[in-house]
Amino acid sequence: MQFKFHIQRYDPSSDWAPRFERYLVELDPLATVLDGLHKIQEQQDGSLCFRRSCRSAICGSCAMYINGTHRLACKTIIKSLRTKNIKVGPLPRLTIIKDLAVDMGPFFEKVERIMPYLVANSSPPKGERPQSIEERRAINEMIDCIMCGACYSACPIVGLDKDYLGPAALTKAYRFVGDSRDEGAGERLSLVNNQHGVWRCHTIFNCQKVCPKSINPTWSIQQLKKRLTRRPSWVIFGRKG
Ligand code: SF4
Ligand code: FES
Repeated sequence: MQFKFHIQRYDPSSDWAPRFERYLVELDPLATVLDGLHKIQEQQDGSLCFRRSCRSAICGSCAMYINGTHRLACKTIIKSLRTKNIKVGPLPRLTIIKDLAVDMGPFFEKVERIMPYLVANSSPPKGERPQSIEERRAINEMIDCIMCGACYSACPIVGLDKDYLGPAALTKAYRFVGDSRDEGAGERLSLVNNQHGVWRCHTIFNCQKVCPKSINPTWSIQQLKKRLTRRPSWVIFGRKG
């Protein structure tokens, strides 16, 4: 079956502005949008630039803006779009490197800011740090994050405040704050307790709507806020409460 791909093209080194180019592609309706992009790149235009790695919705590198919303190109079956017109653009609010590839640098810098690793300095009694099923279940959802950046791109606050940590970094923060083995909650909570952290979230829920792994970052942000307001002598914006 033939599909019409309308793909945003832009090379900042030579183009004045982004434009859409049209490609007609023969594809099985059960193929993915990523399959279509590969076919275009291999058979029609080798200069088309996009990012992908696993092709299995695991690496998070193929997040794009497809037919009006954020999706993983490798997870989007063409038939599910219910149209023969497929419009593909880069993740909004991120700087375009070329065509569909965007600069994920600021996104990952913000994830790094919240100490995205287990802090466990004490020596466990038997050399292990076991977790009960309930303790593991408490962080199950956040562990599924594949760092695709869809939630970050969909968040209007990210567009308004370039220093806002954003939904993915805050979800990662709660992934460790909520981990029964972690001993860094105090420091991590201090890192998100400012006007560019949890308090900047306006609970708009765009992040939840677009997440390809069905994660609810807004919920994690609310959990962080709860932990902060329950601290015995909590400090907000640097002032003692
Ligand atoms: S929370 Fe969801 S949308 Fe956000 S980076 Fe993780 S997987 Fe992607
Ligand atoms: S290519 Fe890895 S998530 Fe799509």
